[in-house]
Amino acid sequence: MNVTVRMLRVFEAVASHLSFTRAAKLLHLSQPAVSMQIKQLEEIVGLPLFEHLGKKIYLTEAGREVYHYARGIGQLLGDMEAAITALRGGARGKLDIAVASTANYFGTRLLAIFSRRHGEFTYRLSVTNRQALLQQLQSNEVDLAIMGQPPAELDLVAEPFMENPLVVIAAPDHPLVGKGPIELRRLAEETFVVREQGSGTRIAMERFFEHTGIVPHTRVELSSNEAIKQAVQAGLGLGVVSIHTLELELETDRLRILDAEGFPIMRHWYVVFRKGKRLSPIAGAFKDFVLREASTLMSASRLSPGT
Ligand code: PGA
Repeated sequence: MNVTVRMLRVFEAVASHLSFTRAAKLLHLSQPAVSMQIKQLEEIVGLPLFEHLGKKIYLTEAGREVYHYARGIGQLLGDMEAAITALRGGARGKLDIAVASTANYFGTRLLAIFSRRHGEFTYRLSVTNRQALLQQLQSNEVDLAIMGQPPAELDLVAEPFMENPLVVIAAPDHPLVGKGPIELRRLAEETFVVREQGSGTRIAMERFFEHTGIVPHTRVELSSNEAIKQAVQAGLGLGVVSIHTLELELETDRLRILDAEGFPIMRHWYVVFRKGKRLSPIAGAFKDFVLREASTLMSASRLSPGT
């Protein structure tokens, strides 16, 4: 089969995002160039790899088969690159990290400290929610991710390094501020603004309420922690966010943490990578740095539940 690495790379990008446009953007190619690569690959394979239903595309059975092997080959090539870089004595390289949007409140700071020690490398930091991040890991687009605990069924290695308390926030003039402990029944009478589907914070909040048998009123859905905090400040409702997102608002007294029963919901942050991935020396060094130092570095920040 006269398949080229380039064809497989393009195919893998289209297949993992199920979008020609997204793949073209990621690979810095024009959309016709992407379509051409896919067409050539389909001609070689002798079967269609995608089917178009309405505006969406789906992998065919042959497409799924090719995707499986394309990912394996992609990973092997990445490993080869890492091995060669290591043989060259860890010369210049690039570190690709993805952080959950919530973890970015400390992720950027960690990267800044780390890059001061390993200045000769270039870094790419992708900030996105949990769901998008899991996709990036699965399609081998990043070396490492910092996120909440990933699902066990995915072939990922996940090492915890720091607590991630989720708290209930309110505007400073909210009647529940300063009261406590607030019973869950009382909390259920309030309206909540919530993160988008696919957010780890949202999943944890939903699990908590489900477990306690409470059905909170959720009226507004917003796609970032910043938007949640703005909405809560504006009096649109209560919110549940990681304490790591709150430093500025607590300092300037724009938001308060409520003393609510069952809170904080205690989650943890993990360094995550694909099982079997040979980490490059720089990726390995970053992983060790996070596991060893992140918790101490970040506990120097003044946040603790009940602030
Ligand atoms: P987020 O957080 O997706 O809500 O930003 C990540 C996580 O908690 O896993």
